[in-house]
Amino acid sequence: MKRLGILLSGRGSNFEAIARNVLAGRLHCEIGFVFSNKPEAPGLARARELGLPSGCIPSAGLERESFDSQVADLLHQNGVDLVCLAGYMRLLSGKFVSQFPQRILNIHPSLLPAFPGLDAQYQALTHGVKVTGCSVHLVDENLDSGPILMQAAVAVLDTDSLETLSERILKEEHRIYSEAIAWMLEGNYRIQGRRVVKT
Ligand code: GRF
Repeated sequence: MKRLGILLSGRGSNFEAIARNVLAGRLHCEIGFVFSNKPEAPGLARARELGLPSGCIPSAGLERESFDSQVADLLHQNGVDLVCLAGYMRLLSGKFVSQFPQRILNIHPSLLPAFPGLDAQYQALTHGVKVTGCSVHLVDENLDSGPILMQAAVAVLDTDSLETLSERILKEEHRIYSEAIAWMLEGNYRIQGRRVVKT
């Protein structure tokens, strides 16, 4: 059985959605390790409640490469095959990325390449787009930039506030992240340049 490593820094609702699917047998893998760089992350507390292997190394003040290599060691020690970033608020070093080649996924709350970076829902709302959404993509060392695996569109309503829009996007995030993980685990894909295509 393949093992997921989840990296988070905060709330952890995407992690919980994945964990629910794993525990219900809808996603055929195990959660090998949940890691947080923030000791106070609610997602980390939730991992402990669920009895999942978890750990934290506070990143504050640590140099990126040495921090990342400690994280990679933890993931390797716990037999992690596929790394899933779920609200992990750190850019990964090239060295970390090369330790898990094309086996790191991220979820981002916009239709990339629109609105990368922080506050993507706010960016979409203030830009005035009529459609936004979320993207699951492979991770490279640049921000929100790797090949896209899956996207879901969400209409922006005239009546939307940041909260209502974010909530509808989040619902789609929870759905497509597990779908994208299932696809990666099945392995029936090929990466052609920036395109990830079914085989
Ligand atoms: C999500 O909106 C995700 O797309 C972004 O960070 C947020 C994390 O939320 N990368 P949660 O911690 O999974 O609830």
